[in-house]
Amino acid sequence: IPVDPFDLVIFGATGDLSTRKILPGLYRRDLAGQLPEAARIVGAARSAFDDEAWRAEVAQAIADHVPAERIEPEARDRFLARLSYVRLDATGADGWDILAARMRPDVVQAYYFSVGPGLFGALAERLHRHGMNREGCRIVVEKPFGHDLASARALNATLAAHFDEHQIYRIDHYLGKETVQNLMAVRFGNMLFEPLWNAQYVDHIQITVAETVGVAGRGGYYDKSGAMRDMVQNHMMQLLCLIAMEPPYAFEPDAVRDEKVKVIRALDPVEPADIVRGQYSAGNGHVSYLDDAEKSESLTESFIALKAHVSNWRWKGTPFYLRTGKRLRARTSEIAITFKDPPHSIFGEQEGQKSNVLVIRLQPNEGIKLKVTIKEPGPGGMRLIEVPLDMSFAEALGPGAADIADAYERLIMDVIRGNQTLFMRGDEVEAAWAWTDPIVAAAEARGDRPRRYDPGSSGPEDALMLMHRDGRRWREIR
Ligand code: BG6
Repeated sequence: IPVDPFDLVIFGATGDLSTRKILPGLYRRDLAGQLPEAARIVGAARSAFDDEAWRAEVAQAIADHVPAERIEPEARDRFLARLSYVRLDATGADGWDILAARMRPDVVQAYYFSVGPGLFGALAERLHRHGMNREGCRIVVEKPFGHDLASARALNATLAAHFDEHQIYRIDHYLGKETVQNLMAVRFGNMLFEPLWNAQYVDHIQITVAETVGVAGRGGYYDKSGAMRDMVQNHMMQLLCLIAMEPPYAFEPDAVRDEKVKVIRALDPVEPADIVRGQYSAGNGHVSYLDDAEKSESLTESFIALKAHVSNWRWKGTPFYLRTGKRLRARTSEIAITFKDPPHSIFGEQEGQKSNVLVIRLQPNEGIKLKVTIKEPGPGGMRLIEVPLDMSFAEALGPGAADIADAYERLIMDVIRGNQTLFMRGDEVEAAWAWTDPIVAAAEARGDRPRRYDPGSSGPEDALMLMHRDGRRWREIR
């Protein structure tokens, strides 16, 4: 279903995110028939392009980032014809009048700040000054949304000086992932899970976001962030919220976001003993973190594992174990909910009887798996084994699975539709920083040296211990 006609301005149009995700994503939406005839995209950046030169850049970006079988010359040319370029100085005066004149009054207007947060204030202020912050227009801002609570508050205040909260779309691209949204569908669209979804029946929850990439090329940013700020404060926090939150009364922006904020506020401070930080060393054909980040010394973590507690009626006593890192064995993101054992086994002690585990696989090979205990087939008596009830989305959805939109495409379409459900509200971001700050500060104050781990491993040994000492174990990263 096509969205309403729109003018979308991308500030930072020649940057990495725009080239890799935003523009190829918009092309795919066009290919899927979702962009109306009157949709226009304006690239704005400092580079000295004209419309033609920028279109050539975007054609290249599509060639580089869209699979060849999905590039249809006719659709691509139709898409390119929607593009125009304005050379603009974000912190100066140049280009702003031209941009203002290009905006059509009778369509949805959206401004994507695909730039560093240092420029958010300048852009917001200039949009205001040039009369572009009209009622109904939207701005889209990227992470990192601040560096800590104080800077996030300052950013919120800067944006709030020129735009209302309902106009501000803070992106966390994990919320745009198909399977992440499926978390809500699974929880609230089925009767099966919800009655068991609490501390009485759930032993613990593991959230893993493992990556094989290192930080080469973005060490400047990464070394100031580390895994805690780069992944936990935002993406992993969102996953935790979607698992832990109470049922919202409707799938509507504030209903969903109110419930998420309550979860974040219910998080206990994390004990220093429940945090393991790691940094990858050289090995397996890869250079070390220090080399990737081009530093001679750094205490920044490229891996973190921690144990969190949500102190409310539903979750008191059920730990949430979180881990994420770069240069690990495999690229895999999953959430595993391990249920408690039955109160009494009528079959006696049996090795084959394992706890039920619901695994929600976010990427790659998206799907849902439920491990259940059954009788081993055959005449060998009542021997129990564990088998998976396995649903891979690719199989369940057939060829349609190939059309699943990338997170960015979906989120941008939500911006045009004016739906904030999958975007973070200001108070949510601030609450997440309020929980994150002490964790970062404690590590910095102690001057902790992160544990070394080998590239291609599951992270430092100590991370295994974090669960072992509770009599539990991490799932394998594969
Ligand atoms: C980004 C982080 O937000 O998410 C990166 O800054 C990380 O460090 C990326 O690699 C992971 O996203 P995805 O979609 O590849 O899981």
